[in-house]
Amino acid sequence: MNSTDSIIDPPLITFPEPHAHATSIRATALVFSDPASRHLLDYIERIAPSEATVLVIGETGTGKELIARHVHALSQRRNKPFVAINCGAFSETLIESELFGHERGAFTGAQTARAGWFETANGGTLFLDEIGDLPVSAQVKLLRVLQEREVLRIGAREATAIDVRLIAATNVDLAAAVQSGHFREDLYYRLNVAGLTLLPLRERPGDILPLVQFFLKRYSKRLEISDAALTQSAETALLNYSWPGNIRELENVIHHSLLLSKSNIITTADLHLHQNPGQPITRSGPSGSLEKAAVQILENAFQALFEQAPDNLHETVDEALIRSAFSYCEKNQVQTAKLLGLSRNILRHRLKRYGMLASA
Ligand SMILES: Nc1ncnc2c1ncn2[C@@H]1O[C@H](COP(=O)(O)OP(=O)(O)OP(=O)(O)O)[C@@H](O)[C@H]1O
Ligand SMILES: [Mg+2]
Repeated sequence: MNSTDSIIDPPLITFPEPHAHATSIRATALVFSDPASRHLLDYIERIAPSEATVLVIGETGTGKELIARHVHALSQRRNKPFVAINCGAFSETLIESELFGHERGAFTGAQTARAGWFETANGGTLFLDEIGDLPVSAQVKLLRVLQEREVLRIGAREATAIDVRLIAATNVDLAAAVQSGHFREDLYYRLNVAGLTLLPLRERPGDILPLVQFFLKRYSKRLEISDAALTQSAETALLNYSWPGNIRELENVIHHSLLLSKSNIITTADLHLHQNPGQPITRSGPSGSLEKAAVQILENAFQALFEQAPDNLHETVDEALIRSAFSYCEKNQVQTAKLLGLSRNILRHRLKRYGMLASA
């Protein structure tokens, strides 16, 4: 096995002041080894110093937020704020006042005036995650802000000039959302001045082992495990796995296996990969024996519930399913909806009903 440094050097980039950019230990470095990733890195280095609006597209866990922070760190704005907002985390009524701010008395409950995130990010970069979730009315206002370079707080008469670079991210196909009328075409073109597409991990296999080494080093240091390494067959299993949760999943797999492993050598069994190598997460029908066994366990649990005949049985079971899927997907709504085969709207409705959405 190669040493960590020989694999990730030079592709490892460490931010000069990690703590200024990162809320956790996680977002302090990037691994770019696969030729496709190196190519992307070159492109990022070319567009970052410009003022161009950037649209980052990629599946969940591919590193969209990390890349957005990297663009900011390589720009003239690096010493100014980087503000990250998840558009999917706010209700339709709240998102506009979050983004654009409001004056005192602008609506019931607006007891004091408040600056929005655009004003907070002034001089720096505003990262709008899950931009595909922005309601159409907010899309109109956002377009206006980008065109006029000024923001009008809700209830205000005069606009405030702002100087903000926008980076938006999406894990849904925005072009398709434009086609279906859910996303404004003019806003899409405004945002997509520089498009950065992050490939799923399975399409850049040259990043897998360098990332494994990177996280192995990081987490073994944290857990005070010396000389942590993987067996050859564990490496092969990692290379053959399809990584539906991408880099976040890989990070979790390494972290968990270090926690679970009885020695400092990680075996295939310690990895606890969720699916058979190469099998996509979206496979349909309970064909696998593992799935059959899981359904049998569920049916046994139902029997026990039927015997107790609790009130609202259907709702109890539905809530348990939604809750555990949401937690499995690390509270990512798009991924949870996909896993359950529900539409995003139906999922949101359920999450609200069971009190699993933040106060918004
Ligand atoms: N190139 C990379 N090198 C090292 N770590 C990375 C890299 N890309 C992503 N990561 C790590 O993987 C995890 C997921 O990254 P991030 O949160 O940026 O993904 P995301 O695409 O925004 O995910 P989501 O769609 O779920 O919001 C983070 O812990 C991040 O630090
Ligand atoms: Mg993200």
